[in-house]
Amino acid sequence: MDKERKLIIAGNWKMNKTVAEGIALVNGLKRELANIKEVDIVVCPPFTALCEVSKAIIDSNIRLGAQNMSESNFGAYTGEIAAGMLKEFLVRYVVLGHSERRQYQKESDELISKKAQAAHAASLKPIVCVGETLQEREANQMEKVLQTQVTGSLAGLSKAQMEETIVAYEPVWAIGTGKTASSAQAQEAHAFIRKLVAKLYDDTVARRVRIQYGGSVKPSNARELMSLPDVDGALVGGASLEDRSFADIIKNSI
Ligand code: 13P
Repeated sequence: MDKERKLIIAGNWKMNKTVAEGIALVNGLKRELANIKEVDIVVCPPFTALCEVSKAIIDSNIRLGAQNMSESNFGAYTGEIAAGMLKEFLVRYVVLGHSERRQYQKESDELISKKAQAAHAASLKPIVCVGETLQEREANQMEKVLQTQVTGSLAGLSKAQMEETIVAYEPVWAIGTGKTASSAQAQEAHAFIRKLVAKLYDDTVARRVRIQYGGSVKPSNARELMSLPDVDGALVGGASLEDRSFADIIKNSI
């Protein structure tokens, strides 16, 4: 598949995998994906497995991501993890504003934008998640929701930082439900986000920024989704928990 932007496919393990299970998973991925250069491959284990998974992938083409971080650099923030702490484990990416955090931890666009700025300040690439709920889609609010989330959660980033930011479009109704957005729905939302980035920044930034699709991505639908003009990768939940299915998503995308 020949695309202007390099595909980036990330596995978001969410709150799954012990250290031993995480190591077994990445060892399997290393075997399956050893020769793949066409895709940026990322795994995002829970914090507790970052250190050992980092060691296990050090000599591979798999990069490390975290699932969240604090907007602060240090201090009295019990239970939080700072960007600098992630860097100790050679983390390169950090998922921010996932819909589960927006829902359960009540993360706001403003907070997410502070986290994205803190990530860039530490040279971590943020994967900033946006997406509408089923209720919002049915009320024809998709564009409005995306406009608010993209504008709010990317506020304050420079052009250079925006180019190095990954946006993940994850329609909430497609997460963990087995319901995938149709090609037309995914392309429409991605094109809308890219146009917004052009408006907020410029055409060059919009052409360079990578927009991932997330929501029930699996080996059987990866090829079609990844071939869409404005889809530049995937953020995979359930299907990233098993080496064969995550590897097949990547192999089917190239
Ligand atoms: P599923 O792939 O399990 O639908 O999860 C998507 C997701 O939330 C990735 O961040």
